[in-house]
Amino acid sequence: MGRAMALRFARAGMNIAIGDVNEDGMAAVVAEAKALGVEAFGVYTDVADENANFALNEAACDAFGQVNVACLNAGVTGSAGRSWSLTKQDWDWTLGILLDGVIHGVRAFVPGMVEHDDGHVVMTASIAGHVSSAYSGPYMVAKHGVVALAETLHHELRAEKSNIGVTCLCPGFVNTDIVAATRRRDPGQVGAVQDKLGEKWLDFSERALAGGIDPEIVGEQVYDAIVDNQFWLFTDQDWDHAIGEKNQQILTRKAPTLGHPSK
Ligand SMILES: NC(=O)c1ccc[n+]([C@@H]2O[C@H](COP(=O)([O-])OP(=O)(O)OC[C@H]3O[C@@H](n4cnc5c(N)ncnc54)[C@H](O)[C@@H]3O)[C@@H](O)[C@H]2O)c1
Repeated sequence: MGRAMALRFARAGMNIAIGDVNEDGMAAVVAEAKALGVEAFGVYTDVADENANFALNEAACDAFGQVNVACLNAGVTGSAGRSWSLTKQDWDWTLGILLDGVIHGVRAFVPGMVEHDDGHVVMTASIAGHVSSAYSGPYMVAKHGVVALAETLHHELRAEKSNIGVTCLCPGFVNTDIVAATRRRDPGQVGAVQDKLGEKWLDFSERALAGGIDPEIVGEQVYDAIVDNQFWLFTDQDWDHAIGEKNQQILTRKAPTLGHPSK
């Protein structure tokens, strides 16, 4: 999805700075962006590392003067398994990338935008920020946290009558590399599947994502959401019923049932 966003922005004439831990992937996207006639570069950035986020902001400002759009999108499925089977390292690693990564990103990129009172922050949450399932606790916790932070940032910027916009991107199923990246981790390694139920969850996710939408569509949707200054960005309507049902359960004080997409 990050590639699709970067190339959509490049097609609009925007210069691109990318941070990722996948240096080959980053170099390929930089080359694609340059071929579209804009300036682009990549910096090895582990988003879980606070300083790396500040260094990426500085590199982008040195190269282009300021950051106009920050997409806090890096992600992993995280360790899969029962919440009590996962180790502290599993929890910390996943939350470090998915939640701390976004927190660091806000602290690194927003102050510069506040200074020139212009810009847009896109935070990638998930349907998992609204509806929880079993066997991927750290992912669910992180994505609920990202939704809360996006709402908080939006309220704070509105209170200051700021011109900075926020979009909370909540993808449903999108056909990307995210499950394959988890499969490439060695058994027992942090961030890998930790038990049989986690394995089942990953199998389910793999099938669901293979039938998901093309990331290119998300790139277009993100670009349009920035132009329209739209806060909520759901990539499809398949989970609307499950989200409505969950909120109804809250209002009627009923225990949650497992939400399903409507198709
Ligand atoms: N694919 C889906 O169906 C789906 C659904 C909901 C939300 N999301 C979210 O969308 C975002 C993008 O994921 P995707 O599906 O495009 O997956 P992807 O695996 O194709 O892309 C994720 C990118 O993040 C990078 N990354 C991983 N760890 C990193 C780290 N520590 N620091 C910097 N970069 C790191 C990877 O190298 C990769 O380039 C993630 O936040 C994910 O949770 C995905």
